[in-house]
Parts: sequence; structure tokens; C-alpha cells
Amino acid sequence: MPSVLTFPTETTTAENPLRAGLRLQRTPEPATIVIFGGTGDLTERKLMPALYTLFAEHLLPPRFTILGTARRLFSDETYRNFLEEAVRAHARIQVVDAVWQSFARNIFYEQGDFSEKAEYSELARRLWALDAERGTQGNRLFYLATPPRFFTFIIERLARVSLAAEGDDKPGWARVIIEKPFGRDLESARRLNAGLTQVLKEDQIYRIDHYLGKETVQNILVFRFANGIWEPLWNRQHIDQVQITVAETVGVEGRASFYEEAGALRDIVQNHMMQLLALTAMEPPIAFAANAVRDEKVKVMRAILPVDRQDIVRGQYGPGIIAGQEVPGYRQEEGVSLQSVTPTYIALRLQIDNWRWAGVPFYLRTGKRLPKRVTEIAIVFKKAPTALFRERTSDGLESNILAMRIQPDEGIALRFAAKVPGPTIRIRSVDMDFRYGASFGTAPPEAYERLLLDALLGDSTLFIRGDEALASWELLTPVLQRLEAEPPTDFPNYPAGSWGPISADELLAREGRKWRRV
Ligand code: BG6
Repeated sequence: MPSVLTFPTETTTAENPLRAGLRLQRTPEPATIVIFGGTGDLTERKLMPALYTLFAEHLLPPRFTILGTARRLFSDETYRNFLEEAVRAHARIQVVDAVWQSFARNIFYEQGDFSEKAEYSELARRLWALDAERGTQGNRLFYLATPPRFFTFIIERLARVSLAAEGDDKPGWARVIIEKPFGRDLESARRLNAGLTQVLKEDQIYRIDHYLGKETVQNILVFRFANGIWEPLWNRQHIDQVQITVAETVGVEGRASFYEEAGALRDIVQNHMMQLLALTAMEPPIAFAANAVRDEKVKVMRAILPVDRQDIVRGQYGPGIIAGQEVPGYRQEEGVSLQSVTPTYIALRLQIDNWRWAGVPFYLRTGKRLPKRVTEIAIVFKKAPTALFRERTSDGLESNILAMRIQPDEGIALRFAAKVPGPTIRIRSVDMDFRYGASFGTAPPEAYERLLLDALLGDSTLFIRGDEALASWELLTPVLQRLEAEPPTDFPNYPAGSWGPISADELLAREGRKWRRV
């Protein structure tokens, strides 16, 4: 049974006694990982470095095979060399020659064009042969690191050569990881879901949102539900507003053709931000098990009211300066149209219409080319009555804020008022700060490490269920339609290196609020 979120039952000995009990290990069954898009960017930058790290940390099963597939011509040997370079460039840990050698022995390559029907029988033959040679017991994890238009085709073809089924006379399991974007609106996401579930059972499908693999995102649930002190405060009685920020300094990083089609709403809000919101706002699940957690996320997403036009702000960056460097505007990026109306910034005001949250606005903002890379969830509490200290503060007391920093500088800070030392009562806000690095003495693992491991273990808690993806599209498709029906006339409307368009400030100012300085 796929089990709990993050507290496995077996422990290994930790080298550092201060970390005793923190390193917990689960070992998956022998399996083959088949990567479609085996020479692509994701494989080079994320998947192979993550698999190498899992191997180096003894988290992969003793018998495993990685089979990369793509059109390029490689032998097993030259494919290994190609990957070695990528892993050395991108792995979180130092690559050790001997460890690489023993890892690389498990890597193979199957050349083929997987938009062609004929290739699949060959792939099946190769997989059965590898299974027999290497004792991987017919367990297979297919990773679809391809453009989304191939998802359904690949799955159907796998099914035709009996690679997608589980049970009956077929030994082993078959699981499929699907990369984002999961559809481009409600309609296309429904079609994709229907295509996938015609061939696969829901529990074979692992829709990935790499934000869920981040330690700090998983910690939202532990923080909320493993501590007694927050839950009584976590509601409209005590919380004034919630602000969720995903700010990036990067531009489109050579992905213009993807980004022109996506824009900030599809790229970040529909998946990563909705996940952050759901984990922050959901009710306690009845268990830390895949379906119980996801049921609650779906419920809270469905409780969000349709978004008013006046609660949507969009922006696109023009030229500007980031960290002292001049950077081009979005329309000047390679591959972007000079008339592009793709938003690189979105801010929304959302309202969750349930007992816990009615009346508490959730402000979301995300943008490329903002001054700072930071992802944060800020819970802003209602202010204390000022009566007692009216004369001691120039502009009233500040709110208490609980800030969960997802990245960088992972941690949690609580802001509260303190007396400035001295003979008079003067009040200033200070922070009580928890930092992952300092407390646990270790950098958090890469999201893909955790997610690949969980998929191998059959634990889908940190993956998106079909109805969850649809719930998010149900809310956001009307927003997209509204925006697409009214092309912007003021783009670019924020310079690179600023905090987004003025209208984003106005969104909060009209309710007497401000974006928090992050
Ligand atoms: C990806 C988006 O999903 O997330 C990118 O497609 C974005 O545009 C990236 O830059 C951000 O991820 P992270 O882990 O760096 O916050």
C-alpha cells in the first residue's frame, strides 16, 4: 500500500549523531526506468542528476535499469558519456568517478522515434530482454519527458504492446510519470485525462508538479498538523490575509516557444501556486495517505469563488536592470514576438468560500524578472488592538506575520512586536527565525530525487490526481478566457527588476493592504 507522506518506517544509521533519526530510508523494488525524451533538457538537468544522487545515497534498489529513448543516435556507451557530462554539470553532490562507473553500468539507450507506431514492438522486446538479463521483474516506471502532445499517443502505444497493463498474467507493475503542463485549459486537461484513463488506472498515473517534491512544501503539512499551536489560529477569526509569492529573477531562459504558449498563469499559477494555496488552506486530512491528502486539496480548490475581473492583474516585463545587469524586455528575448501579449506576471485575489476562510483574501503573485528569487507563503494575522500602545507607535502596531520561505534560504519566520531596549516603551517588529540549513545541517534534496523515489515506491501522495488538475483548471480557465478576450494594450507594463505592474499594488491598496516586502 502506498503509505504515508514522509515518515517511513525503517531507519538507517546516520553518520552524524546530531542527525540521528533524520535519515530515513525506504528501498524500492527492482525496476526499469524508461525515459521518453532521454536526450532532452529535463533528463540532462534534473532526472539523471537526481537518479545519480539517489544511487550515490543508496536509495535506488540493488537491481535497476535506466533505459533512455530518443531519436538521436547513441550506443549505450556514448549515451552514458553524454549523461556523465550532464550529471557532472548539474548534480547536487560531487560526482565520484567510481560511483559514476557503477551507476553508469545500469544505463542503456534505445534509439527510435516514439511518435512512430513501429518502434514500440522493438522497445517491448528490448525491455523484456533487459528484464531477463537484469532481474528487474517486469516493474517499469515510464517517464514522459516529452512535449505534451505525445503523452496520449505514447501511452496508447505502450498499451498495444502490453507494456501499460498490470495484473493478469503480466508480472510486475507499470507506472507512468507525466510532466507538466497537464493540458492548457479545462477542456484539453479533460481530454488528456480521458485519454490516459482509457489505458491506465488512476493509481498508475503520476502527474508531476516538482513543487510538491520540495522539502519546504512538504513541511507545510507537518508544520500545520504536527504542532498544536497553529491550528486554533488558522482561520478567519485570526488571519487577516494570506500572501503567496513566487518571484523569479530569470527571464524565459531560452524557452520562448514554450513560454509564449504558456505565460505565467499556465506555467506557475495553475500548478505550483495552486498547490501552495491548497496545502496552506486545506482541512486536516484523515490520514497522511495519498488519497486522503488529495481529497482535501480538491475540496479546498473547489471552494474558491470564481475570480472577479477586478481581482486579476497581468503584466509583461520591459527592459530593465537586475542585480546591476541590464536585461532585455520580454519582447526582445530570442524567439518572442515583438507584439507578444503573453503575461510574464500575474497577481490574483482569491476568496475561499468555506467556514475556515470566508472573508480572508488570498493574494497570489508571480513574475519573471522580479528583483529577487523568492517563494514564500505569508500568513498575516489580525492586528492587536492598539489601545494600550497608541502613543508608542508612530503608525500603529504591525501585524504578526508567519512567513514560510519555500526557497531560497528555506525556513519559517514569525514576526512579532518587541520592546526596543531603553528607558521608554518603544515598539518594533522583530523576527523569530527557523532555518533548515542551521537546524538540520543539510541542504534539502532536489525535488526530483524525492519524486522519482516516491514513484518507484508507488507512493503518489506528492503527485497530482486527475480531479485535482481539473479543479485547478475549473477555477483558472475562465480567468484565461477573460484575459484572452481582452488583449492588453499597456504591455510591457513593468521594467525588469521591479516588483511588477502598479496595478498589482492597487489590487491590495484598495483594501488598505500592501504586498509584503520579501
Ligand atoms: C517550472 C517553470 O515549472 O518552474 C519555470 O516552467 C520556472 O518557468 C520553474 O522557472 C521554477 O522552479 P523552481 O524550482 O526554480 O522554483
